[in-house]
Amino acid sequence: MKEFYSRNFNPPWADNKLTNMIVIDGKKVASEIRVELKQEVDKLKAKGKSVPGLVTILVGENSASKVYVNSKAKACEEIGFLSKVEKLPESTTEDELLWIVQSYNDNNSFHGILVQLPLPKQISESKIINAIAPEKDVDGFHPVSVGNLVIGNDTFFPCTPAGIQELLKRYNIQTKGKHVVVVGRSNIVGKPIANIMLQKKEFANAIVTICHSAAADLKKYTLSADILIAAIGVPNFIKADMVKEGTVVIDVGINRVEDSTKPKGYRIVGDVDFENVSPKTSFITPVPGGVGPMTIAMLLQNTFKAYLKAGK
Ligand code: GUN
Repeated sequence: MKEFYSRNFNPPWADNKLTNMIVIDGKKVASEIRVELKQEVDKLKAKGKSVPGLVTILVGENSASKVYVNSKAKACEEIGFLSKVEKLPESTTEDELLWIVQSYNDNNSFHGILVQLPLPKQISESKIINAIAPEKDVDGFHPVSVGNLVIGNDTFFPCTPAGIQELLKRYNIQTKGKHVVVVGRSNIVGKPIANIMLQKKEFANAIVTICHSAAADLKKYTLSADILIAAIGVPNFIKADMVKEGTVVIDVGINRVEDSTKPKGYRIVGDVDFENVSPKTSFITPVPGGVGPMTIAMLLQNTFKAYLKAGK
């Protein structure tokens, strides 16, 4: 990628110091990936072949989940994938959902199955994740996928961490021997990105530290990061004094903060205090427009991979 929209620029908050910081454009990279995938689907169609299919299962009325599921379905349709959204009532039982998951395990038109989390309290998330056929686990949450990631076998990477690695690749940010510090230990982001960065592969092979809320002195760790990945879920948590000059900062946070000047009454901010941290960085992902758009792009890529594997 040659074009960086912010090389050597002088943002108003940088105190007239010219910065070399590059703002990573996740929206642009994600849209490039979608174009690439659409071209692949068009080729399949031209040959009269079936297309990749993704079923997304939404249980209940969680408003954020509805938005995510609709975006996922729309992204599938735009590139020509078969897409289905299974909307189930809040009162759905665990057995009913297990039965539905099983029916899609057996349905050859759908190569990927995504059960949107969180689930209503009467349903065990781990039981449902365990019921998804590992070869259709495009979320990469099944214990088989997690185990394969840890031991370095080919598998589905969870979409957000996969998106982070893809951004590093496309911006040619080298990670070999670098100190990657991950703040946050969730199963969706913290643990998988740490394991991805640890792999003995290109755009990985890093020295990895995972920190979390129990750290007595978090700054001790973050200040030693060459690449800092913030996945905490607390708005503007990472401050300028926690980051050394030249760090690559990846902000995974998507936090709503009240803002009466916005039509919706809130705005989205990351886990990093962008205004004060960014002038110290070499690369940084903004929120919105950084890691966020990559998550759906990687879901599409995983679904395409599941389709190719099913055809073998
Ligand atoms: N809820 C929030 N993020 C995700 C995700 O990546 N996959 C699923 N299935 N549910 C989520």
